[in-house]
Amino acid sequence: MTGNREEEKKRAAFSAIDDLIREGRIFSGMKIGLGTGSTAMPAVQRLAERIADGSVSGIRAVATSFQTSIACEKLGIPVFSMNAKEIGGRLDLAIDGVDEISPQKHLIKGGGAALLREKIIAYNADIFVIVADSSKAVQMLGTGFPLPVEVVPEARVSAAASLAALGAKPVLREGVRKAGPVITDNGNLILDCLWPAPADGSAPFDPAEMESRINAIPGVAENGFFTRNPPAVYIAAADGSVQKR
Ligand code: A5P
Repeated sequence: MTGNREEEKKRAAFSAIDDLIREGRIFSGMKIGLGTGSTAMPAVQRLAERIADGSVSGIRAVATSFQTSIACEKLGIPVFSMNAKEIGGRLDLAIDGVDEISPQKHLIKGGGAALLREKIIAYNADIFVIVADSSKAVQMLGTGFPLPVEVVPEARVSAAASLAALGAKPVLREGVRKAGPVITDNGNLILDCLWPAPADGSAPFDPAEMESRINAIPGVAENGFFTRNPPAVYIAAADGSVQKR
C-alpha cells in the first residue's frame, strides 16, 4: 500500500508540473513557491528536470522549509526569501502537498510542521496548486487528521487551554530521534488538535471560522487550516489517472 501511495504522490506531482508548464502557468522568469513533504518533493524534482531540459528558465523560488531549500540547493534551483527584492513578497504560483482536503477545498496542512511558511507562501500566490494522493480527500476536517497549530514556546500551556476551550484535544508534538518536542523551522512548538466527531455525523465547526478563531489566541503563530486561497487540485486516483479539480 505504501508503495502505491508513493507512486500516486509522484504521479500527481509530475502531472501537475507538466500540465502547468503546458498551460503557461509555470513560465520562464516566474516567482514560484515550493512546498514541503513527500508529495511536494517530487514536484520540486520534476521542476528541476524541466529546467534542465530547457522547458523553463530563470525561475526564482521561495522554499517553505529547510527540507525544500536543501532540495533546491541539491537540484540547482535558486532560492530567495519572500522579502528579497527579486520576490517582493508576492508569487506567481505556489505548489504544495496537503494532509486533508474537503469537498469545499478547505485544507489541513502542517503534517511536516511547515505550516507557517506554507501559509505565508500560499496566501501570497496568484495561483495556489495542491498535489495529493487519493488518501487525502475527506468529507470533513478536524476529526481525522489532527490540525497542527504552531505556538511560540511561552504560550505552550495557555494556548493549549484556549484550544481546549474551542473543543479540541491538543497534544504537544514530540520529536523523532530527538528528545523532547518538535521545534519548527521558526523556533516554535506544534500543538496537534483533534476534535471529537459529533455522533450525528455533522461537521464539528466551520473550518474558515475556526481558522480565524485559533489565530486570535495569544501566542499562536499560525494554524494548519487553509481556507482562503482556493487551490487548483491535482489528485491521483487508484485507477492510474490524475484528476484535476
Ligand atoms: C508540511 O508541513 C505539510 O503541510 C505537507 O504539505 C503535508 O503534510 C503533506 O505531506 P505529504 O505530501 O508528505 O503527505
